[in-house]
Amino acid sequence: MTTTVLVGYSPSFSTLDVLAPITKTWHDESMKITAAVLPSHDGAFEVRELEISDPRPGEVLVRVVGAGMCHTDLLARTPGAPFPLPVVLGHEGSGIVEAVGAGVTSVVPGDKVVMSYASCGKCTNCSTGFPQYCDLFYPLNFMGSRMDGSSPLTSADGTNMACCWFGQSSFANYAMASERNVVKVTADDVKLELLGPLGCGFQTGAGAVINSLKVRAGTSIAIYGAGAVGLAAVMAAKIAGCSTIIAVDLHDSRLALAHELGATHTLNAKSTANIVESVQQITAGGAQYAFDTTGVQSVVRGAVDALRPTGVCCLVGAGLAEFTLEGSGFLFGKTVMGVIEGDAFPGEFIPKMIEWHRRGQFPIEKLIKTYRLDQINEAQHDSETGVTIKPVFIF
Ligand SMILES: NC(=O)c1ccc[n+]([C@@H]2O[C@H](COP(=O)([O-])OP(=O)(O)OC[C@H]3O[C@@H](n4cnc5c(N)ncnc54)[C@H](O)[C@@H]3O)[C@@H](O)[C@H]2O)c1
Ligand SMILES: [Zn+2]
Ligand SMILES: [Zn+2]
Repeated sequence: MTTTVLVGYSPSFSTLDVLAPITKTWHDESMKITAAVLPSHDGAFEVRELEISDPRPGEVLVRVVGAGMCHTDLLARTPGAPFPLPVVLGHEGSGIVEAVGAGVTSVVPGDKVVMSYASCGKCTNCSTGFPQYCDLFYPLNFMGSRMDGSSPLTSADGTNMACCWFGQSSFANYAMASERNVVKVTADDVKLELLGPLGCGFQTGAGAVINSLKVRAGTSIAIYGAGAVGLAAVMAAKIAGCSTIIAVDLHDSRLALAHELGATHTLNAKSTANIVESVQQITAGGAQYAFDTTGVQSVVRGAVDALRPTGVCCLVGAGLAEFTLEGSGFLFGKTVMGVIEGDAFPGEFIPKMIEWHRRGQFPIEKLIKTYRLDQINEAQHDSETGVTIKPVFIF
C-alpha cells in the first residue's frame, strides 16, 4: 500500500515540528486485523475487519491478548466531543510485541508488554519527569491519528480509520503503540491478558494514592467512588498502611468488595443521611486525604468539606466541568489537586503494581470480568450499570 501524506500542522500545536517531518511518502505493508469500531457518538460498537500498516520508526506493533475498557473510552460518546469518528478506542491493552520499527531498542518481537498513555518525551514537562502532563498529551492521545495526520489503520474501503487512541487503540487484536508507551513485563507467573488496566485505570487509582497524595502510614483517607479507579486506590491505601480507609459509593456490591480489599469503613451515599458528617465522625474531625473518582460536583464539594485542616483532596473524575468550595474552611491549609494517570511514570509504576499483584497485595482479578470483543456493547452496558467494575476483552 502506498500512501502520500501532506503534513498539515494545526497552529495550536506549536511544538509538532519536534515530532513530524514536513512531507513524507512511504510504502507500508499491511495486515488484516479485527477491531471494534465506534461509528458515531451514539451508535453501537461494530466489530470490523481493518488493515494495519507495518510499524514506522519508533513504533511497536503489538498482538493484543487483553484490553480493558475504561470510562475515559466513553468520552468519545459525548455529543460534539472533539474526537474524530469513526474510531477504534481502547487504551488498556496488553500483549506480545509482533514487530518493531527502526530505532526501537528497548523491546523486541516476542516481548510481553502493557501499553499506557502516549507522551512526546521532549517537552518541558516530559523532560522534567511529568510525561502525564506532556504538552502534546491531547494530540498524542485523542487526535485519532499519528502526529503527521496519518493513521496506521485503514478501513476495507481504503479510507483512514481514526485510531492512536492513547497511543494504542487496543480494542483490536493488533495495536500500534510506540516505544515510549510500552512497558515490558518480565514476570512469567502473571496473567498477561489481565494486566492492560495497569496502563490506565488501576495506575490512576493506585498512583493517585502513592505518587500524588503520597499518603503516610497510620493516616486516614476517604475514597469517593468504588469503581475500577477507586478500588485500586483502596488497595494502594492498604499497601501504604493507611489506618482508616473509607469507601463511598452507590452500590452495596462495590462497597462489599472495597471492604474485602482493605476499606475499614464503607458508606452508601444513597442511604447515608450526611456523608460529610459520617466521614468526620469516623475520622474524629476530618480525613487527612480524600480521593474523588466520581467527577460529581456535589461529591467533590463534600470530599473537601470532610477533610481536616491541612487535608489534601485529589480529583481524577473526567466528567467534572467545574466545582465550588466553601472558602473559609478551605483556607485552613487544605489543598485540592487535579491528577492525570496517577502521576505515574508507567515504566516504573507498572512493574511496581505487577510486583504487588504477584505478592497478592493487588488482586486486580477481583475487579475484572472478561468478555470477547464481539460482546463489547454488552460490556459497556454492564460497566455503566455497575454490574461489571472492569471489563477486559480477551483475544
Ligand atoms: N484523570 C485520569 O487520568 C483518569 C484516568 C482514568 C479514569 N479517569 C476517570 O476516573 C473516573 C472513574 O473511573 P472508573 O473507571 O473508576 O469509573 P466507575 O464508573 O467504575 O467508578 C465511579 C464510581 O463512582 C460511583 N458514584 C457515582 N456517583 C456517586 C455519588 N454521587 N456518590 C458516591 N459514589 C458515586 C459509581 O457508583 C461508581 O462505582 C471516570 O470519570 C474516568 O473517566 C480519569
Ligand atoms: Zn511531552
Ligand atoms: Zn483510562
